[in-house]
Amino acid sequence: MTGMTAGPRHLPLSKLITQAAARLRDGGVVAFPTETVYGLGADAGNPEAVRRVFEIKGRPADHPLIVHLAEAAHADAWAAEVPETARLLMARFWPGPLTLVLPARDEVPREVTGGQDSVALRAPSHPLALSLLRALAGVSGHPVGLAAPSANRFGQVSPTEAWHVRASFGGQVDQVLDGGRCRYGMESTIVSLLGERPRVLRPGALPMSALREVLGEDGIELSAGASLAPRVPGTLAAHYAPVTPLEIHAAADLGHRAETLLARGLRVAVLRRNRSMRGKPALPPLPEFLLPAPPAAYARGLYARLRELDRFAFDRLLVEAPPDEEIWWAVNDRLSRAAASARHLERS
Ligand code: TXA
Ligand code: MG
Repeated sequence: MTGMTAGPRHLPLSKLITQAAARLRDGGVVAFPTETVYGLGADAGNPEAVRRVFEIKGRPADHPLIVHLAEAAHADAWAAEVPETARLLMARFWPGPLTLVLPARDEVPREVTGGQDSVALRAPSHPLALSLLRALAGVSGHPVGLAAPSANRFGQVSPTEAWHVRASFGGQVDQVLDGGRCRYGMESTIVSLLGERPRVLRPGALPMSALREVLGEDGIELSAGASLAPRVPGTLAAHYAPVTPLEIHAAADLGHRAETLLARGLRVAVLRRNRSMRGKPALPPLPEFLLPAPPAAYARGLYARLRELDRFAFDRLLVEAPPDEEIWWAVNDRLSRAAASARHLERS
């Protein structure tokens, strides 16, 4: 590791990208923006560099990384087989917030795949991510893949702004490319093409309705145990946890739950959708934080809001449950994981 952080601010963006590409070629780790969340990238063909990503993130070695590509044509360098359905999805949604899991070629480093015989591929649409991939290919002399998990410490919510990455990793990464706020603020949708039918492994920024447009109404399976509503806390591995323990409640129950916790002397805050309490009984006097009511805007702001809230060190955050509708699947999934982690922390 070079011990250097982001380049001097006066450098033009093109120079920062060239610098980042050179660092990646030399085995460095560079955080970069994508349209979903920030990624912590290393040259996917360099096992040593990929191991550093795991180290910095504190991620267990058997959790595979997504390989980011400049274009769909590069998928064949990583996937042993690219079925017709995969090509259809790539043609329609790449570059964009869709990750495809395909059988891996033998040459793909096992550091990237976590020892599995499949590989996750995605072409990001953020112009800075694409420029970085092209610059890295330029200095490497061949097409490349950038192995990158979300640029957060393992178990924390994903970063949607450059300062989130700097706050987590400071000088531990060689460079942080600042591309402003991420457009989706939610991780990519992951679809496995290993089985008979495409299967959603993780709901994300690409909505199910978009996938159905290409695959047909019955063309896609949900992963085992996936449900659209917030899941029962405690059944999920601790993940996506903000620091403040959170609970999810229907709008009508927020007031009562808040009273109970306040009576126990806890410092409580509420996170709810804009205008959601219209016509409902007033909440007790509490700090209230809002997110926009439409699902895409809510998703875009969620992680940043949770990070911001953590700074107040409330004892408990009461989150108003978003609607139990498919368009809210990714948000409900992340919220219930965060709530499950909070339970987990309380028990331990
Ligand atoms: O939007 C995103 O997907 C962001 C940006 C940076 O691209 N990346 C991201 O990476 O969310 P990460 O590492 O936080 O999540 C990747 C997910 C993990 O849940 C991992 O288990 C899954 O992808 N994954 C990777 N390779 C896989 C494989 N071969 N089979 C099944 N799941 C895989
Ligand atoms: Mg992640």
